[in-house]
Amino acid sequence: MEDVLILGIETSCDETAAAIVKNGQEIISNVVNSQVPVHQQFGGVVPEVASRKHIENIAVVVDAAFQQAGLNYHDIDAVAVTNMPGLIGALLVGVSFAKAFAYGIERPLIAVNHLRGHIYANFLEHNNIEFPAVCLVVSGGHSSILWMPDDDTLEVIGETRDDAAGEAFDKVARFLGLGYPGGPAVQKAAAQGDPNKVVLPRVFLDRSDYEFSFSGLKTAAMNEWKKAEKRGTATVYDMAASFQAALVDVLAEKTIRAARQYRAKSILLAGGVAANTALRLQLKQRSQEQPFSLYYPSLSLCTDNAAMIAGSAYASFIKGYFAPLTLNAQPGQGSL
Ligand code: KG4
Ligand code: ZN
Repeated sequence: MEDVLILGIETSCDETAAAIVKNGQEIISNVVNSQVPVHQQFGGVVPEVASRKHIENIAVVVDAAFQQAGLNYHDIDAVAVTNMPGLIGALLVGVSFAKAFAYGIERPLIAVNHLRGHIYANFLEHNNIEFPAVCLVVSGGHSSILWMPDDDTLEVIGETRDDAAGEAFDKVARFLGLGYPGGPAVQKAAAQGDPNKVVLPRVFLDRSDYEFSFSGLKTAAMNEWKKAEKRGTATVYDMAASFQAALVDVLAEKTIRAARQYRAKSILLAGGVAANTALRLQLKQRSQEQPFSLYYPSLSLCTDNAAMIAGSAYASFIKGYFAPLTLNAQPGQGSL
């Protein structure tokens, strides 16, 4: 079969991204324009500002992806775009652009669920992943454990009842005055702290299901910090380390339990929080000498990018699952 080149477009949150991927595996170009500096001054993503920035950046980013690849518009075989879940205004920019572009170059359009994209980031770097697999998707908007019996089927077996893991990192970082985005800031501060200094709950660890709740942990961390600050019993570094440990312990334990219960051969980590060193390390240690192997994407493919979108669209291309030009964006999780 001839090579298949897919252009991926991603605008679901605060990254405007475009990438070209060959045969679902080989990254030919990968361009990410992060709006972090823009949103930093507000301490978090401002949806309206994100939409406006996407409009400014999208054509430039797509052109950069073609330039980096040394390809012309007509060299590609399909246009893939994230159409859910995410910020509706932000998604609409990518979806509208992708539809117009696909129509203009007379190529099919493929709709990609952002969560599926995150999981498929693993397949861009590893070609020996065995099934069945259990996936932990943890980002600013999602915290789910999914069951993946084959390379196509995805089924949510548990998810957060309230805040996403990344959201909890971001809120605690803000409270501790560590800045935005919170995950990397907390991780950096935690490296200098004692994870056992502040006692925090391992929420839902006593339950046998795969549900999470991070809102209570966030509140507990904030209350403990107020006390510790007054009494001088812990530093901001200790607080960051203790919070990170409490959150990572729950994510790792539930993922390992799911892998055992479902007799998984692989664990796939995905999403922005999958970049967290403590999470990667704990899962790595606990996956040793187990009947399953652990996979995670390299750091730049954990956070939002379009290579994961183009990569995951390959299977749809082969099966002829194309989206109509009436495709709409949708904020909720929708079908995977
Ligand atoms: O996947 P992503 O780029 O966007 C969403 O789909 O939400 O994830 C962004 C989230 C943010 O909440 C950020 O704080 C978190 O991922 N994050 C991290 C780390 N790097 C990014 N959380 C913990 N540790 C990190 N090293
Ligand atoms: Zn994401």
